[in-house]
Amino acid sequence: MTELTQNPAIGSAATDDSNAGHPMWSSRLAFILAASGSAVGLGNIWKFPYITGENGGGAFVLVYLLCIALIGIPIMVAEVAIGRRGGRSPINSMRQLAARDGLSKRWVWIGGMGMIASFLILSFYSVIGGWALSYVGNSAGGLFVGASSDSIGALFGNLLSDPYTLLLWHSVFMVLVIMIVARGVSSGMEKAINILMPILFGLLLVMVGYAMSTDSFAAGFQFLFTPDFSKLTTEGVLTALGHAFFTLSLGMGVMMAYGSYLPKNVSIVKTAFTVSILDTAVALLAGLAIFPLVFANGMEAGAGPGLIFQTLPIAFGQMPGGVFFGTLFFILLVVAAVTSAISLLEPVVEWFEEQKGISRRKGALIGGLSIWALGITTILSLNEWSGFHPLGMFERFEGKTIFDLLDYVTANLMMPLGGLFIALFVGWFMSKQAAENELSIGNGFAFKLFMFILRFITPAAVLVVFVYNLM
Ligand code: TRP
Repeated sequence: MTELTQNPAIGSAATDDSNAGHPMWSSRLAFILAASGSAVGLGNIWKFPYITGENGGGAFVLVYLLCIALIGIPIMVAEVAIGRRGGRSPINSMRQLAARDGLSKRWVWIGGMGMIASFLILSFYSVIGGWALSYVGNSAGGLFVGASSDSIGALFGNLLSDPYTLLLWHSVFMVLVIMIVARGVSSGMEKAINILMPILFGLLLVMVGYAMSTDSFAAGFQFLFTPDFSKLTTEGVLTALGHAFFTLSLGMGVMMAYGSYLPKNVSIVKTAFTVSILDTAVALLAGLAIFPLVFANGMEAGAGPGLIFQTLPIAFGQMPGGVFFGTLFFILLVVAAVTSAISLLEPVVEWFEEQKGISRRKGALIGGLSIWALGITTILSLNEWSGFHPLGMFERFEGKTIFDLLDYVTANLMMPLGGLFIALFVGWFMSKQAAENELSIGNGFAFKLFMFILRFITPAAVLVVFVYNLM
C-alpha cells in the first residue's frame, strides 16, 4: 500500500499536478482499502471495548462518536488534502506546501512529531499484536473448549506474567512487520487485505449473532448505547478524543502519506466519510460482541487491556465450531494489527531513506529493531516492572507503568496536538483556493461549513479538552 512504486496496479491514473509521474492508487477503492487497513486494527477490537468498559459505557461512546464526527472526519479530510497537494512524504509535503504559501519552515515538525509518535506507538502495539498471535495457538490447540471464565482468565494472567513468552510473540510480530515493510508493501498484500477485511467484518457479525443468543444482549446493548453522564470523567473525555485520533490513524501524517497517492478526481470528503464509518462500525460491532459476554459471565466491564482476551474465548469455547471460528478470529485480528503496524513503521523507514540515505531494507531493519527493543519496556511493565511508575511523583501519572505512559503520551498528547496543527494549517494557513481545489465540493454551503468546523470547532474542541484536562 505504501510502497506504491512497486505496485503495477497503480501509476496509470493521470495527474495534472506538478508531481506528475508520482504513482497513484488505481481507484478510490484501493485507497479506501489501504486507509482502512491502517485505521482498522487493535484500536477497534482491543482498545475500544476496554476503554469503553473502563469509562462506564454509553456516555463515553457518545463522546467518542462526537469526536469522530466533529474532529476526526474533518482532520482526516485535511490530512489527506495536505498529502495530495504536497504529493510527497509527510515531512516533505509540509515543507513543500509551507514554501508554496510562504509560511514558516517549522510546519515540517508536524511530520517529525508524527514520526516519533509512530515509533513509540508501534513499540507497544507490537506487544499486543503478540498477544493476538499467541491466542491463535491457544484457540487452535482447543484450550478454550468448555473452559470456565476463571480458567480463561488464568490463561491470560499466565501470559502476562511470563516475559519470555511475551518476548517471543512480540518478536514474531515485529519480524513479520519488518519483512513486509522491507520488501515494500506488494500488490499481493493489497489483495490479501481485499479478501481478509470483509471476512473480519463477517466474523464480527457472527460474534454479535452469538452475543444475541445470550440473555445478556440487552444489558450489553444498554451499556454501550445508554449514556449515563455521571460515569463520565474529564479524563474519560480526553481518552475519547485521543482514541478518535488513534483509531482513525490521524494526526501523525499517515493519512498524508496515503493521500499523496490519491488521484485528483477522487472526492476526499466522501472517501474520508467512508473510511471513518467503516472504522466506527468495526469498533461498535466489537463492543456489541463483547459486552453481552461480559455481563453473561459476571465479569468486570472495566477489566482493562485484557478484556477481549478474557471474554471472547469464553464464547469460542461454547459455540459450535468454536475452535475454527476462534482460530480464524485471532488470525484476522493479527492481520488487522499487521496492516496497521505497517503504516506505523513506514514513516520511520521513509525518514531514514530521505534524511539519511539509508535503503528501505536497512531502514526497516534498524527502525524495526529499535522499536522491538523499546517494546521490551512494555513487556516488563506487565510483570517484573509492574510496580515501576517512572512519573509517579506527578499526580496525573500516578500508578502508570512505562506501557501506560507510552499509550498516554502518544494518544492523549501527541496525536491531538498533531491533529490540531493539521486543522490550523488547512483552516488558517494554506491558501483558501488550494483548500477549495482539494476538497472539490464547490465553494457553497458545504465548503463553508467544513472550513468553519476546521477553523473554529475542531481547534476549539481539542484545546478545550486539553486545557480542561491540565487543570
Ligand atoms: N488505527 C490503528 C488502530 O486502530 C492504529 C494505527 C495505525 C495508528 N497507524 C496509525 C494510530 C497511525 C495513529 C497513527 O489500531
